[in-house]
Amino acid sequence: MAVFSSLTPVFVAVLCVIIGFLFKSSQRRETRSKQERSDQTARPWVDEDLQDDTEISSKHNEDDDDWLDTTEEENLPHIPYTPIQYSATEMLERSEKFYSLMNLRRSVRFVSPDPVPKQVIDNVIRTAGTAPSGAHTEPWTFVVVSDADVKHKIREIIEEEEEINYKQRMGDKWVHDLKKLRTNWVKEYLDVAPYLILVFKQTYGILPNSKKKTHYYNEISVSISCGILLAALQNVGLVTVTTTPLNCGPQLRSLLQRPANPATRKIPANEEGE
Ligand SMILES: Cc1cc2nc3c(=O)[nH]c(=O)nc-3n(C[C@H](O)[C@H](O)[C@H](O)COP(=O)(O)O)c2cc1C
Repeated sequence: MAVFSSLTPVFVAVLCVIIGFLFKSSQRRETRSKQERSDQTARPWVDEDLQDDTEISSKHNEDDDDWLDTTEEENLPHIPYTPIQYSATEMLERSEKFYSLMNLRRSVRFVSPDPVPKQVIDNVIRTAGTAPSGAHTEPWTFVVVSDADVKHKIREIIEEEEEINYKQRMGDKWVHDLKKLRTNWVKEYLDVAPYLILVFKQTYGILPNSKKKTHYYNEISVSISCGILLAALQNVGLVTVTTTPLNCGPQLRSLLQRPANPATRKIPANEEGE
């Protein structure tokens, strides 16, 4: 990994942190059955933040006036589909080229601080936003951080939690399985990379009329979007490391002052690169 990085000095790292977006009420957490809790103990890598909650949200829909009625329609403009067609030869050529490009992707943990035009980052995020999503709910928020102080605070939060993860939460087997990757809780790249992209999932939406909207399969939808993001970054010659640090969600949400739901607040362009 380090060799790859040093051979490509103009590469830049972008971090994708996939974390749950919305605060879940402590009350709801308490109502979860003992069975669920024991399942979580058996699968410690399933962060509370990373649960999908589709079923829970669907139940809300049935008995809560705050939730959007399925008959109420959002007024979204229709964007016509523009088909593209390639000959068999072209398809073969394109599939080979794309495979070759994607096959060069690596998770890179030693990165260059060289600047990258912000517009490139904007475009790759727009590309990620073309992903399919459950019931077309687009349940993702991408937060781009370039400010050195904020990046450092993110590093402090992640390193503090990751040290506990490695030493206490993950357990011997998990730590052993990671040995070959030589990763630990020290993540210098969080200071060095010109951009950190934090990907938040919205477990439900809030419409302009304040009604809540179920975000079906939000976890899967956000994951697909992250895959497209990674491909788009690879396409422009940037490097990435995806990381999902356990238990960092609440602190990162608080640091980045994420609103209860992005639909309720527009983020000025100059605020995005906090
Ligand atoms: C969901 C997910 C979580 C990951 N979490 C971490 C992480 O916390 N820290 C890290 O250094 N790499 C993380 N990785 C990167 C993997 O270690 C890496 O993808 C894997 O070793 C394969 O290497 P490659 O990406 O270079 O092909 C994660 C990857 C995925 C898809």
